[in-house]
Amino acid sequence: MADTPLPRSEFPVTDRWTYLNHAGVAPLPHSAAAAVAAYGAGVEADGGEAYRAHEAREAEVRAAAARLMGVPVEDVAFVKNTTEGLAFVSSGLDWQPGDRVVVPACEFPSNLYPWLALADRGVDVVQVEPEEAGERLPMESFEAALAGGARVLAVSWVQYGRGWQADVPALSRLAHAHGALFVLDAIQALGCIPAHFADWGVDVASADGHKWLLGPEGCGVMYASPAAREQLRVLEPGWNSVVHRQQWENRALVLDPTARRFEAGTQNYAGIFGLGASIDLLLDAGLDEVWAHVNGLCEHLAAGLCNAGAELLTDRADGGGSGIVTFAVAGMSPTECTAALVQRGFSVRARGGGVRVSPHGYNTPEEIDAFVSAVAALVRSP
Ligand SMILES: Cc1ncc(COP(=O)(O)O)c(C=O)c1O
Repeated sequence: MADTPLPRSEFPVTDRWTYLNHAGVAPLPHSAAAAVAAYGAGVEADGGEAYRAHEAREAEVRAAAARLMGVPVEDVAFVKNTTEGLAFVSSGLDWQPGDRVVVPACEFPSNLYPWLALADRGVDVVQVEPEEAGERLPMESFEAALAGGARVLAVSWVQYGRGWQADVPALSRLAHAHGALFVLDAIQALGCIPAHFADWGVDVASADGHKWLLGPEGCGVMYASPAAREQLRVLEPGWNSVVHRQQWENRALVLDPTARRFEAGTQNYAGIFGLGASIDLLLDAGLDEVWAHVNGLCEHLAAGLCNAGAELLTDRADGGGSGIVTFAVAGMSPTECTAALVQRGFSVRARGGGVRVSPHGYNTPEEIDAFVSAVAALVRSP
């Protein structure tokens, strides 16, 4: 079996499944599961006496997350999920009636509801529609929507259903040219595609850990640039948001100048330590290597599916590919097709009008070949 950038020995899930659902919920690598278990054992044995060690590890994980996102460590906050990071923007800006937010029409609800919730403050949410359902949005559609003015352009780095990758640096330039903040839902790419958020001019990015980052559910990371932080009110400040944290009798509200101001209170250490082990694994493998591998698997998969007679729904042209490939089989609904494949040991999900497949850096070309053979059999007799 060919070498993989992420060691297969870290993924016991491969004993039971051909796991191709990292766009859904990723399996925990062994070292992440061990880090969560070690946290539990430590607190079981020593309770709060391990607190200083926990703080030290938290700082290491924050630094590793900053490296992964290509940003200074001061700009990183831990969040409880993707939505929370996006909601810090929707709740924190000083909205005026008539302000506009531009989003693609096909976003996951996490990047829609926080903006729709501003309707009672007179904020208008412009959803950019593709010409045909499920199609990639051309840059001109965003230009046209922004031309009417906008406070925020908020997009997914990779669209969750069919997996097209947005041109993040170009969209960021476009947003700024129209005076808008550029906000990124990064969950469908961070951990799979190399990130350079600061260089790309992203203002805020947010991603939970449970997909491509290979972490536990309910613990994620947020990037907030210094310029973005200046514009965002912190509406949920707590003891952990201030410069003088742990001076319990100091009643002044002096917010930490770093992104830690968004972290209100006690940290999710079990989550942070699990996520930290997974990020270490990804950084050790190298994000360039992981992405080259995943991209290669997806190219191989897309070609194999076409040869097998399936209908490819993902447009991977012009750098728009990601770790997601979505397809349909004539005569079968996406849920029927997905159920048949899951029954044969392939973990995939019905999304984007088809079956969504999302391999990671430990999957092999042999697994992709076996998957394509299973699809070919369904094409022959649905
Ligand atoms: C694009 C996108 N954003 C957000 C989420 C999940 O959001 P959260 O981390 O808040 O649960 C998903 C999950 O499927 C997603 O695909």
